[in-house]
Amino acid sequence: MNLEEVLNFRRSVRNYQTDNNIDTEKVKHCLEMATLAPSSSNMQLWEFYHITDKAMIQKMAHASLGQAAVSTANQLVVFVARRDLFRSRAKQVLEFERENIKRNSPADRQASRIKGIEIYYGTMMPFLYARFFGLLGIFRKLLTLSVSLFRPMFTESTENDQRVVVHKSCALAAQTFMIAMANEGYDTCPLEGFDGRRVKKLLKLPYGAEINMIISCGIRNGDKGIRGDRFRIPFEEVYKIITPAPKGE
Ligand SMILES: Cc1cc2nc3c(=O)[nH]c(=O)nc-3n(C[C@H](O)[C@H](O)[C@H](O)COP(=O)(O)O)c2cc1C
Repeated sequence: MNLEEVLNFRRSVRNYQTDNNIDTEKVKHCLEMATLAPSSSNMQLWEFYHITDKAMIQKMAHASLGQAAVSTANQLVVFVARRDLFRSRAKQVLEFERENIKRNSPADRQASRIKGIEIYYGTMMPFLYARFFGLLGIFRKLLTLSVSLFRPMFTESTENDQRVVVHKSCALAAQTFMIAMANEGYDTCPLEGFDGRRVKKLLKLPYGAEINMIISCGIRNGDKGIRGDRFRIPFEEVYKIITPAPKGE
């Protein structure tokens, strides 16, 4: 399949063949492909929990409000947003980028570039991600709004804004995974209809982790797999092209 065919093949499948197993190694490889998704500041604040155990799948189905998309699934992947790992991830990116600059930047630019990424990952990232009962977020919001009075400034800086940032990137990894799975001829269904507290408990996740999406995996069960035709809002309704203003306006 070419990319367009893969994107047309991917549908949200709510009922899978229960006697047709998918290859765990192939699913794992699709998760490796998912890590190629872009992420905000390359922080990669995600984790993937790959569930192949049938008993665990049934427990997850219960936590997912009994949805057949989970109870009939062959495997599951839980995409978890790990905002709480910001310090260690920033450190890992910084260590890599320091060497990256030494390998790939012109000698006379290296010192200033290294200083730049040290400020970015050593000071700015901890400042943006740090939390203290919402108060640090309010402080950041006031600070960034004040600066934006005088020059363009990133002002989505509350603690809740940072949650959005982390979930956004995690969802890109989830979509990359679903496309990689479709490329293997495997089906998936993204789900947010679940009890996050129960899922966290089943996976023994720490307090700071948040479930981004559960993706069930398997092979569609004929006509029962997909609920009819695909609906999309007419493209003209969502497509807005910005053209140069006519002269004189
Ligand atoms: C974030 C997200 C959450 C979703 N949650 C559910 C869900 O809980 N249960 C379900 O059956 N489908 C769920 N879906 C699937 C959507 O209903 C589906 O993507 C949409 O109807 C379009 O169909 P398609 O994926 O076949 O193109 C979810 C999709 C997304 C992106």
